[in-house]
Amino acid sequence: MKKIAVFTSGGDAPGMNACIRAVVRTAIFRGIEVYGITYGYDGMINGNIKRMQSHSVSNIIQRGGTILKSARSESFRTKEGRQKAYEQLKAFGIEGIVAIGGDGTFTGAKLFFEEFGIPTIGCPGTIDNDIYGTDYTIGFDTAVNTALEAIDKIRDTAAAHDRIFFVEVMGRDSGYIAVECGIGGGAEFVMVPETETDLKKVVKSLKNLRKSKSSSIIVVAEGDEEGNAELIMEKVKDKVNDEDKEFKVTTLGHIQRGGNPTARDRVLASRCGMAAVEGLINGESNCMAGVVNGDVTYTSFEDCIGKTKPIKGDHLKLIEILSI
Ligand code: F6P
Repeated sequence: MKKIAVFTSGGDAPGMNACIRAVVRTAIFRGIEVYGITYGYDGMINGNIKRMQSHSVSNIIQRGGTILKSARSESFRTKEGRQKAYEQLKAFGIEGIVAIGGDGTFTGAKLFFEEFGIPTIGCPGTIDNDIYGTDYTIGFDTAVNTALEAIDKIRDTAAAHDRIFFVEVMGRDSGYIAVECGIGGGAEFVMVPETETDLKKVVKSLKNLRKSKSSSIIVVAEGDEEGNAELIMEKVKDKVNDEDKEFKVTTLGHIQRGGNPTARDRVLASRCGMAAVEGLINGESNCMAGVVNGDVTYTSFEDCIGKTKPIKGDHLKLIEILSI
């Protein structure tokens, strides 16, 4: 293998830059030419492909976002789009690809590999942590800590005014961020798409809580089946029916996607990036490099996309027990 390309795709995540850096420098260390594709699959189709050197990735390990930019490509969903992408890669002599992103990125990578056969390895880059084949995804730890810092601050003002706060965190299909910042932030309730949200129970508990606690924090994953935080707050507020109680909503939104990656994310990103390049050299393909039980592993794209990584039952139990 003489030439490889790396790109980032889908929602950005803190630590993607550390991953790009590891890919570039591992490739150079192994005598491989490395190219950066900007704007994900769209950039591949449009030929936004540039040679990268060791200095191209200097001073980025600490930065959030992605120096290669990111996009969600509609064109790559079409056969014509993928054909164009293949021709661009062929013109550059690219023999291997490292795709940094989430399940959408891997779905595209799997299809592309099956159609055109260019060896591809993925690195799990998403704040959502919803990818099978790795205990944690790049960006998750940073996002949880960002949300936690916000919850700590909200708790101060919630307590000062005896208010009930609904804090919405990201997670369109997944409740990992909600669960971890809920445990860390001492939330009274956490609502996630993976489990049924019992609003009757919430209303009952909030009525009881009033006797022992003056304020409460309820963390809502944006994809909860009962709706977003605003909707859920309205449903609950009506039923609690307490004139003296004030209900507030804070939506943390995209601040969870930015910021300097934590040490844990930088190390995970560096490990996955190096493993992706070494995997390509060793003939691995159509799979993702992740970390399971502390060790680097390769999991087929098929499993990464098709299997779910359930939230641990004891995490949900913790919230219930510790919030009394
Ligand atoms: O990266 C995944 C995610 O953070 C989801 O939790 C969220 O719904 C989505 O991205 C929003 O991304 P965008 O605003 O870029 O479409």
